[in-house]
Amino acid sequence: MEQDPHPAPRTGTALGAPAVRREGREKVTGNARYAAEYPVPGRVHAWPVPAAVARGRVTGVDTSAALALPGVLAVLTPGDAPRLGGTDDATLAVLQNRHVPHRGWCVALAVAETLEAARAAARAVRVDYATEHHDVVLRPDHPDAYEPGKGAQPGRLEHGDPYGAYAAADVRLDTEYRVPPLHNHPMEPHASTAHWDGDRLTVYTSSQGSTTVQSVLAGLFDLPEEHVTVVAEHVGGGFGSKGTPRPDVVLAAMAARHTGRPVTVAYPRRYMPTAVGHRAPTLHRLRLGATTDGHLTAVLHEVTTHTSHVRKYVEHAAVPSRVMYTAPHLLSSHRVVPLDVPSPSWMRAPGEAPGMYALESAVDELAGALGVDPIELRIRNEPEREPGSGKPFSSRHLAECLRESARRFGWDRRDPRPRSRTEGPLLIGTGVAAATYPVLIRPSTATAQALPDGTFLIRVNAADIGTGARTVLAQVAADALGAPLDRVRTEVGRSDLPPASLAGDSSGTASWGWAVHEACAALTARLAEHPGPLPAEGLLVRSDTAGRADADSPYARHAFGAHFAEVAVDTVTGEVRARRMLGVYAAGRILNARTARSQFVGGMIMGLGMALTEGSTMDAPFGDFTEADLASYHVPAHADVPGIEADWIEEDDPHLNPMGSKGIGEIGIVGTAAALGNAVHHATGIRFRTLPLTPDRIL
Ligand code: MOS
Repeated sequence: MEQDPHPAPRTGTALGAPAVRREGREKVTGNARYAAEYPVPGRVHAWPVPAAVARGRVTGVDTSAALALPGVLAVLTPGDAPRLGGTDDATLAVLQNRHVPHRGWCVALAVAETLEAARAAARAVRVDYATEHHDVVLRPDHPDAYEPGKGAQPGRLEHGDPYGAYAAADVRLDTEYRVPPLHNHPMEPHASTAHWDGDRLTVYTSSQGSTTVQSVLAGLFDLPEEHVTVVAEHVGGGFGSKGTPRPDVVLAAMAARHTGRPVTVAYPRRYMPTAVGHRAPTLHRLRLGATTDGHLTAVLHEVTTHTSHVRKYVEHAAVPSRVMYTAPHLLSSHRVVPLDVPSPSWMRAPGEAPGMYALESAVDELAGALGVDPIELRIRNEPEREPGSGKPFSSRHLAECLRESARRFGWDRRDPRPRSRTEGPLLIGTGVAAATYPVLIRPSTATAQALPDGTFLIRVNAADIGTGARTVLAQVAADALGAPLDRVRTEVGRSDLPPASLAGDSSGTASWGWAVHEACAALTARLAEHPGPLPAEGLLVRSDTAGRADADSPYARHAFGAHFAEVAVDTVTGEVRARRMLGVYAAGRILNARTARSQFVGGMIMGLGMALTEGSTMDAPFGDFTEADLASYHVPAHADVPGIEADWIEEDDPHLNPMGSKGIGEIGIVGTAAALGNAVHHATGIRFRTLPLTPDRIL
C-alpha cells in the first residue's frame, strides 16, 4: 500500500491544508498594489544616472541640458543631494561623494513630472570622470585574497588532519568546479515611492522586510523610527535581493525631500545587476579521500569568491561540507577577493546553492571512481552528528528522501554505465544529488485580537513576497485558536504593525508563525477566562519571541532533500533538455501543502536555470556584467520546465518551533544543478565542471 504523502490535517485545525492564497484574486485581477503603483497625489518620477566608468571620480556634472527639458524638476548630484546619516550598509550611501567604486554606481538622479521626462533627463546629464585602473577578474591566486574571520559562519573550519588523511587515502579525488555570477531578477523590479509630511516619511517599497527598511531610513534621515512608515503589502519576489533596503528607497526619499513632491524610483531591469546585488561567482577545489569500500576519510572544500570594495560579503559556499557527510578530517574554507565589481549579496540559498552544486558533483565523481551507486555512497557516509559542530541532528531524514525518490523515479532500472542510453542523436542520462538548508529562526512580535463578532485579527509585519505568507499565518492562527480559517484575518506588510523579521533565509514562516502561535495561544487562554460578551474593542494579546526564537539550539537543525533529474543531450546541437525532475524533502511539518509545493518547485526551476541557462559574464576591460537583461540572462521559460514534481516526507521534529516546521523557501534550488549535471555526465560520459551547461560548452 502506498502511504498517503499528505494525510488530512488533524480534525479541527487548518494547519497543513492546501489553503489558497488569500490575495490570489486581487493579484490576478490587477487590484493588488505594488510599490510603484500607489496613487499618491502629485507624485513625480526619478531616474538614476549610472556611472559610465568602472572606477574613478566624478569631476563634473553638467545638468543644464537636462534641466532645460520640459517637465524636469531637479537633478540631484553628489554635490547637492541631501546629506545622509549613518548606515552600516555603504551601498546605500548614494550621491554622498564623488568616488565611483564600480560601473553602474549611481552618480546623479533626474526628477521629472513623468517617467519619460525623468528618463530623458537622466540621459541628458553630462558627467565627466577621472578614471582609475580597475580590476574585476576573480582568480584564486589574487594577491588581495583574504580569509574572512568569524561571522555567522567561520570562514575556515579545520578538523583533524585533512591534508595528511587525504594524502593517505586509498582513493583520492581532486576536482574543481566553477559557478558564474548569478542574478536574482524577481518578476517585480525594485521600486519605491516616497513622500514626506513635515518630518514624517512614508515609503511604499518592494521589500522582504519592512521593519529593517524602517530602521535604516530612520538612521539615514535622522528621524525617530516612529516617524517612518514603510508599506510593502505586495511584493513580486525578491530571492534575497530585497532582503536589505536598496538604493531605490533612499533615492526616492532624498528626491522627495529635495523637490517637496512624492517621488517614485522604479529601477529598469537593466539597472538591477549592478544595483541590487548578485550571487558572487565561486571557484571550488574539492578533494575527497575515501576507503576502497566507499567511506569518506577526508573532505577538503576550498572556495574562492569575490566581493566589492563597497561592502564586504562572503558567499559561504564551503559551508554545506560541514553538514553533509562523515568527515573525520575536514577542511572547509573561503577566500574572498575584493574587486571593483558591484556589491554581491544574498541570492536564494546563498552558500548552499553553489556549494552543493560542487560537493554533490564531486560525490558523484567519487561514486564513479569507486564503482559504488551514488545513492549508496551517500547513505554509507551519513554522519552520526553534524561534522562541523559535533551536535546531534534535531532530525535528519536524508536517506529516507533518497530512497523514496529513487523508488518513485525508477532508479533501479538505470544502467549505471555512462553513455549507455541513446535515442537517435540524443544521449539520455539520469542523475541524483542531495539537498540541505539550515533551520533559521529570528525573533518576531505579533498581536492577536478577538472581536465581538466572533472573528480574529492577527497583526504581524511579515512580508508576503509571493510565498503565501499571510495565508499560512492565518492557518497557524486558526490552529492555535481552534477557530475556522475563515474567521481569521491577517494584516502583514506594514512597518506600523508589530515588528517582525525578514522574509529571508527560509526563516519567515517559522519566525512569524512562532509569534502568531504564542499570541493566539495566550488569547485562547484569556478568552476561556473572560465572562460574557467581549467589549467593542475585543481582547488583544501581544507576543514577543525575543530571547527564545534566537536562542542557540543544542541540535544541528537542517532540512534535507533529494533531487533526481533525467536529461536529453543533443549531440548535434549541444542542447541539454531536462525531461523529468523530482524533489523529495524532509522539512519538518508542512504547514500548507499547496504553497509549500510551489516553493519547492520554484526552487527547482531556479536550479534548472542555474544548471542550464543562467550565468553572467564579467567583461574585464569594460568592468561590468555583460548580461543585464532577460534577453541575455536566460531564466527558464515554461517550455524549459519539464515534468517537475515535488513532494515530502512527513517529519516530526520537536526541536524547532511550536508548529514543528523547517524552512522551505530555498532548499529546492540546493543540489538541483548537481542532479542535472550528474545526469549530463551519465548521458555523455563527460564531466563538465563549469556552469551553465550551454551548447557551446557541451559541443
Ligand atoms: Mo533569501 S536569499 O535569504 O531571501
